[in-house]
Parts: sequence; C-alpha cells; structure tokens
Amino acid sequence: MTYGIIGAMQSEISLLKGNMEQLKAHPLAGTEYYTGLLGGKPVVLACSGIGKVSAAICAQTMIIRFGADALINTGVAGCVCDDLTVYDVVLSQDVVYHDFDSDLLIKYFPHTDRFPGDPELLALAQKAYAALGDPGYRLKVGRVATGDQFIESKEVKDNIVSRCRPDCVEMEGAAIAHAAYISGLPVLVIRSMSDNADGNADVSFHTFETVCADHSARLLLKMLELA
Ligand code: ADE
Repeated sequence: MTYGIIGAMQSEISLLKGNMEQLKAHPLAGTEYYTGLLGGKPVVLACSGIGKVSAAICAQTMIIRFGADALINTGVAGCVCDDLTVYDVVLSQDVVYHDFDSDLLIKYFPHTDRFPGDPELLALAQKAYAALGDPGYRLKVGRVATGDQFIESKEVKDNIVSRCRPDCVEMEGAAIAHAAYISGLPVLVIRSMSDNADGNADVSFHTFETVCADHSARLLLKMLELA
C-alpha cells in the first residue's frame, strides 16, 4: 500500500517531510513529489498548491505516476459548525463542492455530488487520535466543503452552510476525493480549524496556520505508524 499524501501549502507538509525516511525528490510539472517512508509505510508526499485544479492534478499524478493506492489530504480549514473551534480537527465523513452545481455533477460523470471518506481510514484516524492521548483538540467526523475561495465573510459562510451543511470549508479536499473516487481508491480528508471563515478569518488563519497544520500532520503520522 502506497499512501499519496497531499497538502496545499508547505506549512501543511513540512512536519511530514521532516519525518520521512529514504526521502527522494521527483520534480514534475512544477511540483516536487517526495517518495520514501513515513511511519515506516511507503508514501508519496507533495505540496499541490492551492485550489481544486492544482489539487486534482497532484492527486491524479500520484495515482498514475507514483502508484498511490490511497489518498490522504492534510491541512487547515475554516470552521463553519457550532460545536468546533480553532485547533479542532474534522475527518471527512464526506466531501462536497460548494461551488459546483450538484445537479450537473449527478447528471454527468462522475454522477455523484459527494465523495465519502473511506471507513477504514476513518477508523484508523480515530484510533490514532486515541493513541495521541489528550492532544488538546476535539475530533469530529463530518462534512468538508471545497471551493476556489477563501471564505472570510458571514454572508458567504451562511450561504454555503444553508446549501451544503458542512462542518468546515477549504479549497482542495473534494478535488482530491473526486480523483480517488473515479479510480475506486480510498480517501480521507483531515483538516484542523485555523479560523471561523468569518470577518476575522484572515488574521486567525495567519495566527494558527502552522500549529493547526501540524495538528493534522501529527494525527496522520500516528495513523501511518499504526497502519
Ligand atoms: N482554509 C483555511 N481557512 C479557510 C477558509 N476560511 N476558507 C477556505 N479555505 C480555508
């Protein structure tokens, strides 16, 4: 089993890269793909860049070129639910696009508007959370909503919540889950809440980006150690 691990920003992969053994870099189409071992397991790790297109290119490259047979997206997100706050972590029960017409996704390939998290990866992540003891944040299995926009206003946030009912918003998860789905591969999105997707989101994001990215990465590292 080779795990394909994607973060959109360097902050989201740096802890993982620092923990890799037998690290080898493979530059391709403007992206560095790193192969090696993480937690003793074979991985390919990359920083995709932000947004759905970059994430989808990276995910499909990992599948076709590097033989990834599971995809995991790690990073930060904006919290849009009432029961979580900054630092807390969401695992993808499912992932949806908040900026793609659901009817069209259902009518045309891939004929679905939601991409489920893999039950075995979800169980492994929950086991890893328990093994971390009390890491200082809560864990929720919920819905992740993806779109090509940093959400930083109450109006936009409320509109997404009313249409999609997500727990958090980010910019890559659904594209990665979509790539996994069409190849029949397991996928999981892990996101730590860096902000509340409101008028204070930009300040909060820059304050908590690093510590939250590391929360998500440490949980993923523990998953791989236990896998
Ligand atoms: N990633 C982290 N915070 C986010 C936000 N508020 N909107 C979109 N992506 C994010």
